[in-house]
This record gives sequence, structure tokens and C-alpha cells, in this order.
Amino acid sequence: MGIRDNIIDEIKSRCNIVDVIGRHVLLKKTGSNYKGVCPFHNEKTPSFVVSDTKQIFTCFGCGATGDVLEFVQRYNNLDFPGAIEKLCDEYGIEMKYSSFQTERDRTALYEINREAAAFFYRAFFNNPNPGYDYMKKRGLEPEILRKFGIGYADEEWDSLYQYFMKKGTDLQILVELGLISQSKGKNFDKYRNRIIFPIINTRGKVIGFGGRILGAGEPKYLNSPESAIFQKKNNLYGLNLTRQDINKEKYVILVEGYMDVISLYQHGIRNVSASLGTALTEKQAEMMKRYSDNVVLAYDADEAGQAAALRGLDILHKVGCKVKVMHISDGKDPDDFVKNKGKEEFLKLVKNAMPFADYKIYLLKQRLDLDTTEGSVEFLQETAKILGELSPVEAEIYIKKIARETNISEGAIRLEINVNNNSENIKKYDTVPVRDTGKESQSARTDPGFGTMLEKNLIKLMLLKSSYVNRIKPYDWIFQSTSAFKIYDIIKSVYKADEEIDMKKVEDSLDTADNRLLQDIMENIHLADKEEQVFRDCIQSINENISAEREQELIRLISILDDEKDRDKIEALTIEIIKIQKGKTKDR
Ligand code: UTP
Ligand code: MN
Repeated sequence: MGIRDNIIDEIKSRCNIVDVIGRHVLLKKTGSNYKGVCPFHNEKTPSFVVSDTKQIFTCFGCGATGDVLEFVQRYNNLDFPGAIEKLCDEYGIEMKYSSFQTERDRTALYEINREAAAFFYRAFFNNPNPGYDYMKKRGLEPEILRKFGIGYADEEWDSLYQYFMKKGTDLQILVELGLISQSKGKNFDKYRNRIIFPIINTRGKVIGFGGRILGAGEPKYLNSPESAIFQKKNNLYGLNLTRQDINKEKYVILVEGYMDVISLYQHGIRNVSASLGTALTEKQAEMMKRYSDNVVLAYDADEAGQAAALRGLDILHKVGCKVKVMHISDGKDPDDFVKNKGKEEFLKLVKNAMPFADYKIYLLKQRLDLDTTEGSVEFLQETAKILGELSPVEAEIYIKKIARETNISEGAIRLEINVNNNSENIKKYDTVPVRDTGKESQSARTDPGFGTMLEKNLIKLMLLKSSYVNRIKPYDWIFQSTSAFKIYDIIKSVYKADEEIDMKKVEDSLDTADNRLLQDIMENIHLADKEEQVFRDCIQSINENISAEREQELIRLISILDDEKDRDKIEALTIEIIKIQKGKTKDR
């Protein structure tokens, strides 16, 4: 367990074994080690050695040996977690939420939560109360509410507090679990006059609570704080009851709220779950995937819900789920819809849910005006990005579909996907720092990531003759490699009219990596007194790059335009392309 390892690392780095043992055993320095009388067996001459460098102890008399944690365990007669706790305590190491806490400690926390859940449950079912009335009014049946263990926290300030105090429960734990609040020396129940939704993990443990206010008010839901047994981002609501149904149905409907889960469940749609009031996390997505990798997002119809759906979509897609988005056409959320329209209508919505790519393309179409050239270009670019994430076979289906539905040709879409893939590669290559060994790093060093020939030549020009600084300025977006850009930036800042660049100042302002490029330029770029020629070559090469890019853009534009409607535009663009292409041959 990672967190547990972290704590152990932390202890080992903070608690020097010499100090820890030195508190109990008189140690004398001998060479690089410390020596003392062994606490683990009876002896008169010291044969107990503590090594500062190795952070271990060894007794040559009885053979006892180990690290600092081993010592604390043996000396204090503690188990491993006990030793961790003692050292964390003595050295002020934060261990609160680290799940290193012993299973024994966690069992105690689960047990207290279970008792609290039972307390709320009894209050809900055993006597008339406003909580029961509220849920009844919302159309929920007792049988279902029992299944979900729904409870009620009454209006008193200290019902739960009194209950636990009579049992002698540790107050600190109640506070840590967020059941009791403390203020001005007073203890009171955190949940008052609320419906209680116990959050139960797949092992059947009550890990936390959500408490809904009756009717309107703020906050609508009060949730348990994060604790040693409750991490929102690692858990999903309802899975304890619904995972078999999810397995059986081979897909899961993911909703936003507690009420949505319970309501759908009551209407016979049981393959449901909800994230816990936070945006869906990767952990939750992975957890979901263990039960089914087919996910239908049924988020609220409002803007916030749709934005959350979009984020959830990406996360689920990222972990490899096949994900669809459902559109709640009538009503604000799944609970609302299913209550009004029933199971069959809801299942129709599920059937019509839009797959990942469809949904994203649908949003693009809503946002962009495909009747304008700009809108079409952006649509094409964004679509290509989406399709680039799909398998080639899948992408092919969408390419055909989009070509049919818009006036963009299949060829244009394919071209754009390829352009993306290539530039993606270049981008990756450019930003990867030199770290690989062997051939890779050799080439990375002489390559774009480190500084292009163009960049190097331009820098050399400015360093040789500062008058080039101003002449290069109009083209300075060309400095894209990190080091080249930094060098250019420094040159600009030390530049003074009519003075040459102060090399020393430049060097001093750069870090090692950037200085390496500078050195490379000074040693390997030779202009042979032909500065003006080099400058002109550089500028020409920049212009050619611009033309090449413009050419690509023109080809894209033409493929998008409608042969009939945009005849004039197509003609103008074609003329521009021809000009660019002529320019190319002329220069050669
Ligand atoms: P909603 O506001 O959609 O609530 O929040 P709901 O579940 O539909 O509840 P009803 O139908 O109004 O009774 C969705 C989820 O967001 C979390 C809860 O998990 C809730 O179920 N939430 C919401 C909070 O944690 N705190 C809040 O104050 C509000
Ligand atoms: Mn609701």
C-alpha cells in the first residue's frame, strides 16, 4: 500500500536510529558506529552496535538486529502499527488519513459508523417522524428505503452524542468521523433534522453518510468528511446493492445523486450507481470498470450536469470504458424523469444514449456555425481530434457519417486526422527533454527539441552583430524550442543599440541546459563572414514555412466548401494555392 510505505519512509528519514535508541540505551561512539549494553539480553560488556550510516542495530551477543521500527517494537513490546504510531506521535509525523492505521483501528471506526447508521435507521422506521413523511411524499417505498438503510437524524442537538456517551464511545473518533461537531467547548450532533443516506462500500462497511435537509435550505446535503475509512474519490454510492445487477445487465447507469439511485432502483432499474457529490474521478472510473466497462451517463439536464457529463465522459473513455451519454429530455434529473414517465420511457432514453464520439460531435455542431468557413474549419479540426482517439475501424464509420451529414469530404477528414497525428508526434518530440540513452538522446540533442538550425543561425547572427536583433524581431515567433527561446529572450534584454551583445551577461543569465545550446551555437555554427546571405536564407526559409502552412490550410478550406454555393470563394483560394506553388518552383 503506497500510503503506508510513505509513512514508513517518512519515519525512517525523520527518526534517526541513534537518537531513538539513545533515549533508552547509553551509547558511546566508536569509529563510525555507536556501542552500548544490549537491552535484549543480560550482558556486562557492550556488544550492542548501532550504525548511523546503515540505520540498523545489531547485537553480537544475542543476534538481535533490525531497523528503527524493529527496535521500537521489541523494546516497547508493540506490534508493527503500534510502533509506527508511537514514532509518528513522538516525532510529530502526520498520520491521520494514512490508511496505515491498523485494521483493528479501522474496524472500530466501521463499527461506530454502523452503530450510528442503525441509530438513524431506527429513528426513521420505528416512530412517526418528519424524515419518513418527507421520503413518503417523494414517492419512495419503505421496502426500498430499508434496503438502502435510510435513516433520520432528529431535531435535537445531542441525541446521537448522548447515545454514544452512554456506550462510552471515544469522542475523538466520533469527531473524526464527522458525526459529532465541537464548538466553544460544546459537543453536538452534526446531522440534525436530516434524511440520512449511509454510504456503504462493496464489503458492506458503512464508510460515511450523506444527510439531506428536509425541503429547501443550505447545505442541501451534508457529507461525511474524509477520514481513514472514507475517501470520496475512491467510492461510488449504491454499488453494495447494485453490482450484481450491473454484472447481469452488462452496463451501468451512472447518475449524480443519491436520490436518483434509489428512485431508479425502485422503478426496477437496478444497474445504477452515483459518484459522491464530486466530479467523477479516475479511481471511480476504474472501480466502475471492474463491474462493467459499458457506462451510460445519466446526469442532470442542467448546464452543470452536462458539463459534469462531459468531464465524466473523458475520464471513463480514458480508463477504457465504452461510454454513452443520455439526454434527460423531460425533467431535471433521472429521479424526476422516471417518477413521471416510468421505467419503459427511461429505458428508451438509455437506448438512445449517444456514444462518446457522437456526443462530442453533437456538442461541436451546437457550438459551431457550419455555414461559415471558420465554423467549418474548426469543426473539421475538432472532429479530427475526436476521431483520432478512436480505433481506425470506428473512425472510418464516423468519417463516412460526418461526410454525409456535412459538406466536408471524407478525404478532408482523413487528411486532417493524419495532420493531427503527425503534428502530435512532432509536438511530443519537441517537448521531451533529453533523457533517453543511446541513439535517441543523440538525435534529440541535434534536433528540434534542442534548437533547430534556423534558430541556431538566427541566434548566432545576433551574437555576432547586434544590429540583427531588431531585424529578427518580426520573426521571433520562430523561437519555439525552450532553450532557443530563453537565449533569444536574454539577448533581447541585454541588447543595447550600437553595442555588441555582452556574451558574459548572456551566459550568466542562462542555466546549464540553455548554456549547452549556446555553447553548441558558438562552436558549431559558422557563418564564414556571409552574415547577410545567411540572414536572407533564414528569412526565406521562414517564409516558405509560412507558405506551406497556408497551403495546407487552403487545401482544407477548399475541401470544405460547397462546390455550387461557394464557387467564387473556391476560385479565389485556388488561385492563391497556385501562386504559392509557383513561388516554390521559382525559388528552387
Ligand atoms: P442534486 O442537487 O442533484 O441532488 O445533487 P439530488 O440527489 O437530485 O437530490 P434531490 O432530488 O434534490 O433530493 C446531486 C448530488 O450531489 C451531491 C449529493 O451527492 C447529491 O446526491 N451534493 C449536492 C452534495 O454533496 N452537497 C450538496 O449540497 C448538494
Ligand atoms: Mn433530484
